[in-house]
Amino acid sequence: MNFILRGFGHYAPEKVLTNADLEKIVDTSDEWITSRTGIKERHIAADDECTSDMGYEAAQKALAQAGIKPEELTHIICGTFTPDSMIPSTACRIQEKLGIKGQMCLDVQAACSGYLYALQSARGYLCLEPDSKILVVTSEVVSRRMNWEDRATCVLFGDAAGATVMTSGDTADGPHVVDVMLAADGSLGDLLTVNGGGSAYSYKLGEAIGPEYFVEFKGREVFKHAVRNMTDMCESILERNGLTKADVNVLIPHQANLRIIDAVGRRFDIPEERIFTNIARYGNTSAASVPVALSEALETGFVNKGDLVLIPTFGGGFTWGSALIQF
Ligand code: ACO
Repeated sequence: MNFILRGFGHYAPEKVLTNADLEKIVDTSDEWITSRTGIKERHIAADDECTSDMGYEAAQKALAQAGIKPEELTHIICGTFTPDSMIPSTACRIQEKLGIKGQMCLDVQAACSGYLYALQSARGYLCLEPDSKILVVTSEVVSRRMNWEDRATCVLFGDAAGATVMTSGDTADGPHVVDVMLAADGSLGDLLTVNGGGSAYSYKLGEAIGPEYFVEFKGREVFKHAVRNMTDMCESILERNGLTKADVNVLIPHQANLRIIDAVGRRFDIPEERIFTNIARYGNTSAASVPVALSEALETGFVNKGDLVLIPTFGGGFTWGSALIQF
């Protein structure tokens, strides 16, 4: 079966927070943030804007590009670690906003690897029901899970949403997913957490929330594991498909840190001009980062018909993965 990606869309909130703005909030500098991460600015959701609002905007664009009406959808799979609420799922909220009913709606939580986990789930559902039209949408309002007093984390993230529509079909119908590989190692989970709100933490009505409610991580450890696992997974997926580094036209990695991206590119022998990055303008948008990058890479002509695109991701869990998309 061919897993065709018929439409791409992305959305970012209007408000932009620059490094200069952050210098007024925490003890940091544009120089520190830029040299350590490559980030210059990030988008921040409006107070009344939530994950499903942004997912809905990205979904509308992907559906329009695919030429598929919302009511034709059969499944909605939403990747996010910042859902609107515990219940209902954000996928259900996006369905409601699209004005449709009846589809299977499911949230997938794999932190920054959320898009590839959602994409692989979509491939599974498509195998079960080949006539499916599946919306894969990832959306994150990470800013609401930021401790704005912690300079080590709050400078790194931003809010955004990305969406794709997948159907079966002929490879001439559009880009297709060649393969996806996923992995996780729960024993390293405590290196990157958002513990608050989960059942392992007991809260009482009226109790103040603590730092555990926000993203916390051991930056250097995350960095090390990210580079190693993203690189290994790239090698594995190429080997499994009988391909080599030379067959890859473009690398579109999860946008966590420019130095992680550079390190993966170097270890993988991919020159800078074949690596798509938008981290300077978005920061790390977690599960949204890959579909936003894919959508922008297409829009700007960075990726063209005939290109083989390699996508490595890494996130909390730890979770990681790689994908090959033939444009
Ligand atoms: N501004 C100025 N100084 C800062 C800031 C800041 N914003 N943040 C930390 N520092 C200071 C620290 O206090 C520390 O100071 P000290 O040495 O006096 O104690 C020092 O800078 C730390 O500097 P480095 O060790 O050189 O920082 P490093 O090079 O490790 O970079 C960073 C830190 C950017 C966090 C890096 O480790 C990283 O990117 N890690 C990966 C994070 C990541 O990818 N997360 C993605 C997954 S998220 C998800 O899945 C939801």
